[in-house]
Amino acid sequence: MFLKIGRLRMPLLLLSFLVFTACKEEDKKTPSKSPYTSWSSYLGDSGRSHYSTLSQITPENLNRLEVAWSYEAADWGQMQMNPIIADSLLYGVTAAMRVVALNAATGKEVWQFGDSVKVWHSTSRGVSYWERGNDQRILCTRGPDLYALDALTGKPIPTFGNNGKVDMRTGMAESAKNNFVISNTPGTIYKDLIVMPLRLSEGPSAPPGDIIAFNVITGAVAWVFHTIPAKGESGSDTWGDTNVRNSDIVGAANNWAGMAVDEDTGILYVPTGSAAPDFYGGVRKGSNLYSNSLLALDAATGTYLWHFQFTHHDIWDRDPPAPPNLLIVEKEGKKIPAVAQVTKQGYVYLFDRKTGTSLFAIEEIPVPPSSLEGEEAWPTQPFPVKPAPFARQSSDLTEDDLSPYAENREELQTFFKKADKRIYAPPGLDPVLLLPGYDGAAEWGGAASDPDEGILYVNSNEMPRNLLMEKAEEAVSGLPMGEGIYKNYCATCHQANKQGIEASGFPSLIDLQLRKEKKEVLEIVTQGKGMMTGFPQIPKEEQEALLRFLFDEEVKHTVTNTSKKSTVEQVPFVHKGYNKWLDSKGLPAISPPWGTLHAIDLNTGEYIWSIPFGETPELKEKGFPTTGTENYGGPVVTSNGLLFIGATKDGYFRVFDKHTGKLLWEYELPAPAFATPAMYEVDGKQYIAIACGGEKLGTKKGNQIIAFALTE
Ligand code: HEC
Repeated sequence: MFLKIGRLRMPLLLLSFLVFTACKEEDKKTPSKSPYTSWSSYLGDSGRSHYSTLSQITPENLNRLEVAWSYEAADWGQMQMNPIIADSLLYGVTAAMRVVALNAATGKEVWQFGDSVKVWHSTSRGVSYWERGNDQRILCTRGPDLYALDALTGKPIPTFGNNGKVDMRTGMAESAKNNFVISNTPGTIYKDLIVMPLRLSEGPSAPPGDIIAFNVITGAVAWVFHTIPAKGESGSDTWGDTNVRNSDIVGAANNWAGMAVDEDTGILYVPTGSAAPDFYGGVRKGSNLYSNSLLALDAATGTYLWHFQFTHHDIWDRDPPAPPNLLIVEKEGKKIPAVAQVTKQGYVYLFDRKTGTSLFAIEEIPVPPSSLEGEEAWPTQPFPVKPAPFARQSSDLTEDDLSPYAENREELQTFFKKADKRIYAPPGLDPVLLLPGYDGAAEWGGAASDPDEGILYVNSNEMPRNLLMEKAEEAVSGLPMGEGIYKNYCATCHQANKQGIEASGFPSLIDLQLRKEKKEVLEIVTQGKGMMTGFPQIPKEEQEALLRFLFDEEVKHTVTNTSKKSTVEQVPFVHKGYNKWLDSKGLPAISPPWGTLHAIDLNTGEYIWSIPFGETPELKEKGFPTTGTENYGGPVVTSNGLLFIGATKDGYFRVFDKHTGKLLWEYELPAPAFATPAMYEVDGKQYIAIACGGEKLGTKKGNQIIAFALTE
């Protein structure tokens, strides 16, 4: 017997795993109360709706939408931040992590914070705002520190933590102390608490990715939830080793994408990422609870309420990439408060917010076993029967789906024939064609929703990847120390020959000595840069050897690699890099669409519309149809029928009709906006602001935050 899931056909063997149950009687009608006229929280509100009821800008007057102001930051480059607005001040973060407060009506800078603290190369998706009476605070991070700033002056609040800051590692396991721990997504405010997302290493030796709530007034740790359980805690028997929290190899399962909170019920919704090391799970045999899950916790205490795991024993880097959306759906005439989670796989999961019951059937379907020694891929994975995935899956592809624009078709055909295209094909020594790719289908920009109508709007990528492992011993043994360290920690992204993968955003490190001082490189290695995580855990002696290797000074005959030998022994297979599968011109090797935008009715699980999203200029010029492009950053929808979005590599800011997907307006930005816009009102005038820092995907750099409004 076969079951059709989207465009897939899957053997329906495990019907008994069906977790669908009918919704309960008591969960009737609780429409959301939020007026959705302000934007004082990440993505608009604590339900992460990306939604506004402001209605001055309409489908009819869009032709009068123009730049109202633009702010030029002191530093240039990628800005992923979603601005927030409180009391007519707009708060944002620049490419070099300066926090700025601007007059939201004029764009004039009121204060900035950052020059007084150490320069930090990172990315930031924004800041959080908290107020009680006259006490108004901005919560932001820099490196491992969480700061509380006076919202009106930008000065650290001396009574918070240690003179205005707390080290987020305070609440974590001992192994976090000397490790890479930052946060690049705003914390979630609930009453006087802020719950912090964390960004950790994805390789061996990341610390456990705890969920930590801090008191906004004092900076004290209020509660900690262990996503990797301690011995005896629920879930500790799903890791092979019940003492996994103390492992010096396994870690992470952190929430990095951000969270949502239902302020009425006090339930916090936390999507958790994959366990590290990402691609080899032989050191963490089992389903690995609570990695890759949606966790519902009591926001006041951190107490576990329910969870659902999206990928068991993840060995594909399938972290849920964005905060969930809280919305109301209607089932059999009843209004049900629901929580929706978009995924890198292109599936949307929908749960009853209170009980965690899935509102569409989910089936556990058998997936292929691993061929790597020591690896035990989980035998099944959960697939929602509805909605269909919003991105093509590798198993959908046939040779007809190779790019019609590719000039090296034969070469692509050869790879296509060889690659394993099954869904959840496990990483191995032969290539797996991973579609959707590592960054997803859905990415960190997330989805917008009409919270009371149950419609979800999501932009998506269709970038195939070549997933391949190699034997660690081959990679490292017998190499000089510096090169061994390099292979262990850096080669996945910068490649064994230091060439990098330019198309995937991993720079070449060849001739580094001509461009950089050792001091600067050491800072990058320990603190990270942009999307590169830092490696403060590398001991000094190994750091020095690594720098010698990077600067071509390593003497070839000093063979050994020291402290990491044990890592290599325990992690026998390593990932060969985040390679995109591209044609000879650098375009995706599969046929368009390469980027898409969708409206999905979550009441029925049916699509309202789907369109290719973004243009490839060199193909457009030749008259080819819209291809869609890679896109990062999410949409904003309005109650009066509009959907605003930047995100595309082509650098446009666009408005679509939310009912039909028809393009209504577009504007070429000075640099692409890999960010989600914010909609707000000052003195009766409606604005929509977006950061355009470009740089990602090899695009030009920008430094502006631009606000649009209607001309008089
Ligand atoms: C997960 C992928 C990843 C890993 C692992 C990684 N890097 Fe990077 N690295 C990057 C990315 C992405 C950038 C570009 C960052 C930016 O400029 O925003 C980068 C940038 C750099 C730069 C700056 C290059 C320049 O020309 O500006 C140096 C130096 C560097 N990495 C060294 C290392 C070393 C040494 C290691 C190992 C200890 C390492 N990286 C591990 C992804 C990675």
